[in-house]
Amino acid sequence: MPPQVSVSAPGKVILSGEHAVVYGYPALVASTDFRAKVRIEKINKGLEIIPSEANEIIKKGIENANLFLGKEIDGLKILLNSQIPIGSGMGSSAAVAVALAFALIKIIINKTTLEQVNKLAYLTEKFYHGNPSGVDVAISTYGGYLWYRKETEDFKVFSKVTPNRKLTDFVLVDSGKPLESTKEMVSFYVSGYYKRHPQRVEGIFRNIEKVTKGFLRYILNEENISIIDLIRENERNLESLGVVSEFTKELIRKVEKLGGAAKISGAGGRKGNSGIVLVYHKDEDKLKNILNKWKLIFMDVKFGSRGVTYEKNS
Ligand code: PMV
Repeated sequence: MPPQVSVSAPGKVILSGEHAVVYGYPALVASTDFRAKVRIEKINKGLEIIPSEANEIIKKGIENANLFLGKEIDGLKILLNSQIPIGSGMGSSAAVAVALAFALIKIIINKTTLEQVNKLAYLTEKFYHGNPSGVDVAISTYGGYLWYRKETEDFKVFSKVTPNRKLTDFVLVDSGKPLESTKEMVSFYVSGYYKRHPQRVEGIFRNIEKVTKGFLRYILNEENISIIDLIRENERNLESLGVVSEFTKELIRKVEKLGGAAKISGAGGRKGNSGIVLVYHKDEDKLKNILNKWKLIFMDVKFGSRGVTYEKNS
């Protein structure tokens, strides 16, 4: 058993397919250069977690690891350090679950496979999100770009995508942390809407699927499709689903008036803010100047960073 291990796992941005992916439609997702780091050190006895705010997710991850591997483990000091904004659609809890799963498997049985990590992290993600598609933990495990579909609870089909175009003219604008959690958006709001109006919601999901496939052809450079049209169409569908707040819609309309396109990414939010907004504009400098003028918080992002990996001990 190694005396210590340090690992990191990336957050994600859903390019297209959020919510629909919970119902078996495809999603196209990219890892980002924002990462969560976990370091585990063997100590004599007990469990020490730093910072203590991470207690719940770490304890759940350990409980799942013990069950998954059929071994009890004691005597760990676990340190978490994440750059991924929490609860904003950037896959922060999934990245923590993945980094923790990788580090725990390494500490407990000294050998890991990405398949094991993905499966174990999915159990922890389920505790938080109730009915996740699993796309967040899969992209954080494997990194890069994934085409992802959940066929059944235990059977998920995904494939790495190698883009033939550079996806560079994007920034992430923070519309603010949603009042609702992902679990509320997925398991109460969208699921309630689906139960009341199955045909209407299936129609929205089919439209989202068309856009997701268009996005795939765009990044593979197989067709001359307008990225602006794809993102705008995607956002309109998410608005029909009711997962975008009025405040966020206003922000997105302003970006569109400037000649850009924007969509929420992740579960969204209805009442207050809707988390991270993925914004595209051909003239990134012009966009940034205006975002600054509007006093909006935005972040540069790089897509496609590597999945869960070892870090040098620091
Ligand atoms: O907001 P996030 O990062 O938890 O993204 C959730 C994406 C959903 O499609 C809404 C849910 C899921 O499990 O796929």
